[in-house]
Amino acid sequence: MAKAKTFYQCQACGYVSPKWLGKCPDCGEWNTLAEEKKETRQGRKSSGRSEPQPLNTIVSGKEKRTTTGIKEFDRVLGGGVVAGSVILVGGDPGIGKSTVLIQALSGLSKKYESVLYVSGEESPEQIKLRAERLSVDSGKIMLLAETSLENILDTASELKPGAIVIDSIQTMYTEEILSAPGSVSQVRECAARLMFFAKKSAIPVFLVGHVTKEGAIAGPRVLEHIVDTVLYFEGDRGHSYRILRTVKNRFGSTNEIGVFEMTDSGLSEIENPSELFLSERPLNVSGSTVVASMEGTRPLMVEIQALASPTTFGMPRRTSIGVDFNRVNLLTAVLEKKAGLHLSGMDIFINVVGGLKIIEPAIDLGIIMTIASSLRDIPIDPKIFMFGEVGLSGEIRAVAYAEQRIKEAAKIGFKKALMSRTNSERLTAVEPFGLEIMGAGNVEEALEAVLGI
Ligand code: TYD
Ligand code: MG
Repeated sequence: MAKAKTFYQCQACGYVSPKWLGKCPDCGEWNTLAEEKKETRQGRKSSGRSEPQPLNTIVSGKEKRTTTGIKEFDRVLGGGVVAGSVILVGGDPGIGKSTVLIQALSGLSKKYESVLYVSGEESPEQIKLRAERLSVDSGKIMLLAETSLENILDTASELKPGAIVIDSIQTMYTEEILSAPGSVSQVRECAARLMFFAKKSAIPVFLVGHVTKEGAIAGPRVLEHIVDTVLYFEGDRGHSYRILRTVKNRFGSTNEIGVFEMTDSGLSEIENPSELFLSERPLNVSGSTVVASMEGTRPLMVEIQALASPTTFGMPRRTSIGVDFNRVNLLTAVLEKKAGLHLSGMDIFINVVGGLKIIEPAIDLGIIMTIASSLRDIPIDPKIFMFGEVGLSGEIRAVAYAEQRIKEAAKIGFKKALMSRTNSERLTAVEPFGLEIMGAGNVEEALEAVLGI
C-alpha cells in the first residue's frame, strides 16, 4: 500500500513543515517553502545484513582512474576520473559547464566504446552545434535528450557507456516522487539514484548543477553531501578565463584549481596561469605588488593593487575585491598602530587583479606593502615578490610551501623575495633558486627593506 503524503519543504535549507509558512523558521528566508509529495511505503523492506569485518582483512584495490586528456581537468579531479565516482560540476549559467564536460567526454570517448551525454536543457541539434564549434570527434559520444531518470538509467544499463554526463540534475525527475523537477526532494532523490547506479556499474557520472542566486547548488547543499567530488566553475563575465575549483573530493585533495580560457573554439587549458595573471601588470607604479599565493598544491603569482586616497566624507571607506574585507580592516589597523602610517583620513581600496579570490593569509604582507606604497607614492621594485602572514602585533609569520612559491617566482623572472624571517632562515639550507632572499621580522622592517620608510 502506498499513500501520498504532502508536506512543505524549504527550498533553501531543507526544513520540513506540515503546513505552508511564509518564512522558514530555520533559515529565515521568505517564500522558500514549496509543496512536496512523497509516497510512503507501508511496512519496512528488509535488506540483506552485512557483517562487520576486521580492517586488516579488507583488500584495497587502487582506485582505477581514467584521464580525460585535459590536464587542468584531470588535475582538479586528483589525477583523472575514478571509476564509479559521481562528480558535481556547479557554476553560474553560461560559465562553460556544458562546454567543459563535452570536451572531457570527448577525451574519455577515446578510451571507451561509447560515452553518454544526457541533456534535459538543450536539443541534440544545439549540442551538435556546440560540438562542431569545439571540433570534438563525435562518433562515440551518444546524445540523449531525456529528463526521466528511469529512462536514463534503462538506457545507460543497456548502453554501458564509459562515462555519463547529466546536464543538468535540476531538469531530471523520477516518477517515484511527485514533486516538480528541480525541487529539493527530486534533486536529492535523482542524485542518490545516480550515485547508486554509478557505484554498482563503476561508470563515472558527471552532474551539472546550477547555482542559485545565493551561490548554493540546488538550494540546500543537499547534493554536496551525496556526491564524491564537487567542482565549482568560477570566473567573471568581464574576463575570458575560468577557474575550476575542487571544493570536495573523496579521491584527491581539495582546493586544487584548473585554469582555462574561453576561446572561440571552447575552453583551452592555461598551463602557466601566473604569467597570465601578471601579463598586464604596470611596472614602477605605486600601489601594486606581486604575491605568491598557493591554490591547493599549486603556486600562483598574483598582483595586488591598493589605492589610498584622502577621504571626502567623514567616514573613511575600506573596499576590497578578491580578499576578505575584515582582513583588510585588520591590516590597515596594524599599519596605523605598528608602523605609524596615518590611514584614518584615507579611503582604501584593495583589488586582486584578474578577478581572483584569495583567502590565504600569506597575502597579508602584500596587502600591507601595497597600501603603504600607495600612501607614500613609492613604487615597489617590480622584481620583488612577497608572501607572509601578518599578526596583530605587526609580526610577520612564516607560511607553508615557501620553496614552491619561490620556485614559481624564479620561473617567471622574479629576482627578490620578501618573506618572514623564520621562512628565510629555513631557506638558507636549501637552494634559493638564484633569488635574493629578504627576511623581515615585523612590518616596520619590511617597509624599511622594500620602500625605505
Ligand atoms: P556553456 O557551456 O553553454 O555554459 P553552461 O553550460 O555553464 O550554462 O557555455 C556558454 C558560454 O560559453 C556562452 O556564453 C558562449 C561561450 N562559448 C564560447 O565563448 N566559445 C565556445 O566555443 C563555446 C562552446 C561557448
Ligand atoms: Mg549548459
